[in-house]
Amino acid sequence: MAREPHDPTPTFSVLNATNSASDGQPRLYIAGCIGTVGAVLIAVRCANPCPFSKHPGVSCVLHVSGARADWWHTRMAGLLPEMPVYPWNAVPDPGAVRYAVVWKPPPGGLRRFPALRAIVSIGAGVDHVLIDPDLPLGVPILRTTGGDLTQRMREYIALHTLRLHRAEPALRAAAARGDWTQIVTPPAARRRVGVMGLGTLGSAAARTLAGLGFAVQGWARSKRALENVTVFAGDAALPAFLEASEILICLLPLTDATRGILNARLFAALPAGAGLINAGRGGHLVEADLIPALDAGHLSHAVLDVFETEPLLGDHPFWTDPRIDVTPHTASLIDPDTGARLIAENIRRMEAGAPIDDLIDPARGY
Ligand SMILES: NC(=O)c1ccc[n+]([C@@H]2O[C@H](COP(=O)([O-])OP(=O)(O)OC[C@H]3O[C@@H](n4cnc5c(N)ncnc54)[C@H](OP(=O)(O)O)[C@@H]3O)[C@@H](O)[C@H]2O)c1
Repeated sequence: MAREPHDPTPTFSVLNATNSASDGQPRLYIAGCIGTVGAVLIAVRCANPCPFSKHPGVSCVLHVSGARADWWHTRMAGLLPEMPVYPWNAVPDPGAVRYAVVWKPPPGGLRRFPALRAIVSIGAGVDHVLIDPDLPLGVPILRTTGGDLTQRMREYIALHTLRLHRAEPALRAAAARGDWTQIVTPPAARRRVGVMGLGTLGSAAARTLAGLGFAVQGWARSKRALENVTVFAGDAALPAFLEASEILICLLPLTDATRGILNARLFAALPAGAGLINAGRGGHLVEADLIPALDAGHLSHAVLDVFETEPLLGDHPFWTDPRIDVTPHTASLIDPDTGARLIAENIRRMEAGAPIDDLIDPARGY
């Protein structure tokens, strides 16, 4: 099972949870921008805002599959002794569930809980939640971030950018043939690296690469200042950004706007022989376009951490193509211990009506 880490650096939280009340009762209000035409203010009044001690019926449900399921259950139950925590298929009273802590919940499954107060993604991405066509409307969605996640992603991006920059794949292949080939690469300051997505992870990766001396540029939806990084914003700026990205790194969230963005047309817009690192989501890459782009010389090498189907099937051509490095969604794996603590803390804050940094905007998709 693919798991993700968290980042404690809440950079782009656009929604706020506040504790306010006209009658002295804590309430949770979520305000956010939805829709593409204008901003609409939504307010969600939580069904059961009081502390657990006053509401013993409040419970939490977990959806984690695979080997870690028991661990998560034991850990979350230990961290939230005030609140029963139930595995997905063992909830005695669905009406009492206020929090759903999930990784890839089954479509329609969250509808079973009519009094949900929040859906918590075990991971930084929420695409696995938003993909549900029967997602209950108006329920706040949180992602799980943390400094641990950012650090691991920094390491992964630095590692593979340096490998591509220093032509390591070609040097390794030559060494395997006993071939003394010297490949002289340009200095980092002349190597133009492009980071798609400048959120928690992308901005950290861009700063790390700038610190290594690369000529770094980033692309996001909105303009912002990032030290030593040239920022391109919006679709209109994409061609100019691509034109100058000899190593392209994808750290976008998967949304309707970004699905399939790594495609034949984009590869042809890069400098010839560019390197690609995709640590965003498998859905960003049109898999059928990758090997033809390598064959055509638009790309020279690709490092892929995420795939449309995970685990990657055993007979998938990506495994054996020497121009493609596969990593098994380990760029920035969640540290379960840190993750569980962050999730428990966020649930406590919601119960206390304290601000939450990790709310996402469902209309935006991230
Ligand atoms: N491989 C792994 O192990 C792993 C681990 C964790 C996360 N991830 C993936 O990494 C993704 C990014 O995480 P994050 O925490 O950095 O996300 P984030 O903080 O939500 O930032 C997303 C960034 O993408 C930009 N963006 C979104 N849609 C865009 C569009 N249509 N055009 C241009 N820019 C767009 C945003 O622009 P604005 O700033 O202008 O809004 C923002 O800069 C996650 O969603 C997840 O899929 C992978």
